Amino acid sequence: MNHIPSFGVGTFRLSGQTVIDSVRNALDVGYRAVDTAQIYGNEAEVGQAIAESGVPRAELFVTTKIWTDNYARAKLVPSLRESLKKLRTDYVDLTLIHWPAPGNGVELPEFMDALAEAKALGLTRQIGISNFNIELTRQAIAAVGKGEIATNQIELSPYLQGHKLTAFLQEQGIQVTSYMTLAYGKVLKDPVLASIAAKHQATVAQVALAWALQLGYAVIPSSTKRENLASNLLARGLKLDAEDMALIATLERNGREVSPEGLAPAWD
Ligand SMILES: NC(=O)c1ccc[n+]([C@@H]2O[C@H](COP(=O)([O-])OP(=O)(O)OC[C@H]3O[C@@H](n4cnc5c(N)ncnc54)[C@H](OP(=O)(O)O)[C@@H]3O)[C@@H](O)[C@H]2O)c1
Repeated sequence: MNHIPSFGVGTFRLSGQTVIDSVRNALDVGYRAVDTAQIYGNEAEVGQAIAESGVPRAELFVTTKIWTDNYARAKLVPSLRESLKKLRTDYVDLTLIHWPAPGNGVELPEFMDALAEAKALGLTRQIGISNFNIELTRQAIAAVGKGEIATNQIELSPYLQGHKLTAFLQEQGIQVTSYMTLAYGKVLKDPVLASIAAKHQATVAQVALAWALQLGYAVIPSSTKRENLASNLLARGLKLDAEDMALIATLERNGREVSPEGLAPAWD
């Protein structure tokens, strides 16, 4: 049975001592899920922070993502073994295909099969996809079977609510993971979110994260600051009411931050 923790810490853009400190602080204040990727170039530092934290491996949920260079059948499993070495672990909890990368020369059934093989080998407990649109998610399901795809990790924030795709994923029983729920800080200046935060004596970041959690999404906000890591986690205890949720629904503006050419699909 697939299960994705609802709250984890992200590590995109963080390297060296910064990512070591961020992951150490996150684990220290209570996070148990860590999101990294081959392309982030920080798996070794994430592995170091986890090892030094003293938190038992069994309590942790570690996610990595396969980079597009490693999609060929002959490369995917060896690249994941390399990631495991860097992360200092025998398995990851979740491995994602980072971007669909249409036209990169490897067809979707090939990399999905290789990902399923990684799971069969015990290198990853669950598998999933990231940045897939509805059509490509359908193709991934056709390749490996519906129950195999634990999550689609996609950009979602109060400014990019992705209704069509999230409705489809939820219908299929695929967990939605929201990345950049804070739109890399952009939503933190929003006056509507600020008024909701004031009403609940919460922070704007907590309101954005609580919005996503309440819609059933998993979140993985990142921060270099221990106090932000700690306060973000408290979003789990913030309950927004129907009026708050309705107000946030009006903030949709197709505010996509990330859409790399050659990697991104045609968005729904
Ligand atoms: N699958 C994909 O293709 C993909 C793409 C992008 C991201 N991701 C994953 O999603 C994670 C989250 O995305 P992200 O890191 O790009 O952006 P984000 O979580 O939306 O925003 C992080 C930014 O918000 C700031 N921040 C966090 N908490 C705050 C708070 N309480 N108050 C004020 N500022 C706060 C951080 O600054 P401070 O450091 O100053 O706190 C940082 O600049 C990534 O780290 C990565 O793991 C995945």
